[in-house]
Amino acid sequence: MSGKKQVFVIGGTGYIGASVLQRLVKHRTAAESEYTVLVRSEDKERKLAELVKSGGLGDVGIKLVRGSNADFDVLEAQAARADVVFSMADSDDVPAIKAVIAGLKKRYEQTGVAPILIHTSGTGVLMDKAEGNFEGTNYYDDTIPEHLEALADTQIHRPVDLLVVEADSQGYLRSYIILPGVIFGIATGPLYDAGVGNRHSMAVPLLIKKGVSRGEVGVVGEGLSKWPAVHIDDTADLYITLYDGVLSGRAGRGREGYYFAENGHYTWYSLSKAVAEALVALGKSNNIEPTPFTKAEYEESFMLRVLGTNALCHANRGRALGWKPKYTIDDLYRSIKPEAEVLLSVSS
Ligand SMILES: NC(=O)c1ccc[n+]([C@@H]2O[C@H](COP(=O)([O-])OP(=O)(O)OC[C@H]3O[C@@H](n4cnc5c(N)ncnc54)[C@H](OP(=O)(O)O)[C@@H]3O)[C@@H](O)[C@H]2O)c1
Repeated sequence: MSGKKQVFVIGGTGYIGASVLQRLVKHRTAAESEYTVLVRSEDKERKLAELVKSGGLGDVGIKLVRGSNADFDVLEAQAARADVVFSMADSDDVPAIKAVIAGLKKRYEQTGVAPILIHTSGTGVLMDKAEGNFEGTNYYDDTIPEHLEALADTQIHRPVDLLVVEADSQGYLRSYIILPGVIFGIATGPLYDAGVGNRHSMAVPLLIKKGVSRGEVGVVGEGLSKWPAVHIDDTADLYITLYDGVLSGRAGRGREGYYFAENGHYTWYSLSKAVAEALVALGKSNNIEPTPFTKAEYEESFMLRVLGTNALCHANRGRALGWKPKYTIDDLYRSIKPEAEVLLSVSS
């Protein structure tokens, strides 16, 4: 193994992960780092290898390892040779994170230095049962560990987050968890141009596609509940601000290592209304008013049930490290029509 800092990237071909990877290869530590990227499909492995070979990601050391989250031996072996792991594939995969943690523990036993784990969770951990019927009032502050610790262990993402923080408390790794709200915007950059990264997020594309298939855009209940939002570039910037904070020893870790990503909140009604206006403008719907999802629609999809909840938070910890998100809730609304044009392959 070279004397370079070993950085293992999981989920580097995804919406979040590709934006982070593009920034990591330009990071001030890139020349002294070697990146190992887990890739699960043959197609993406070929495209990424071509991009690396052509210098499209710069002159940095990038190795590809074929495997999935179900290849626990691969995850453990790669983590066991890593100084840093960026975990950006799946916020809910308990066996996968256990394999990563086991590998990092081995790394610590070999080197005596606790390796770094930067894991991706989400503000889904904060969800209530509002079903769109009320606006929440309980804002979680990531600088107050007790706020996160008050969450039920059964909340989504929580089983993985708890394992990560518990491993930190044992001292054999340093853990940092980023919890983005709804991420928006079409992701850009060489990894996406090469067909490696996934350009689209989750909530806005879901509302667009569902809106087209049902002829009008849906909303859960009255749409009064609120969620935080954050642009994909601001999200990826937070990983880098945090990484800088970790390397300089300024970043809180473990129970003090939760980092929300938000730059404001929106109501689900406002978001659905903005999607409805975009689809009407594009000739894909005649109804400018969102209509409630039926009980059957609501029950058939976990994601739709998310769209009725409150998840309220303040991303104070990242801001204290110097994170300055640029995109606002108005940018969220403005992002919808261009995204619909791409997703629906239409021009205005
Ligand atoms: N997007 C959001 O608004 C948002 C907000 C908060 C939290 N999150 C969470 O963040 C995580 C990543 O989200 P994303 O939007 O970046 O998703 P995404 O675009 O689907 O990317 C997921 C990445 O993980 C890889 N991956 C997924 N399952 C895998 C498996 N079993 N084995 C190996 N690789 C696997 C994917 O590989 P392929 O390229 O081969 O598919 C891809 O690189 C998710 O857990 C999501 O719930 C997302």
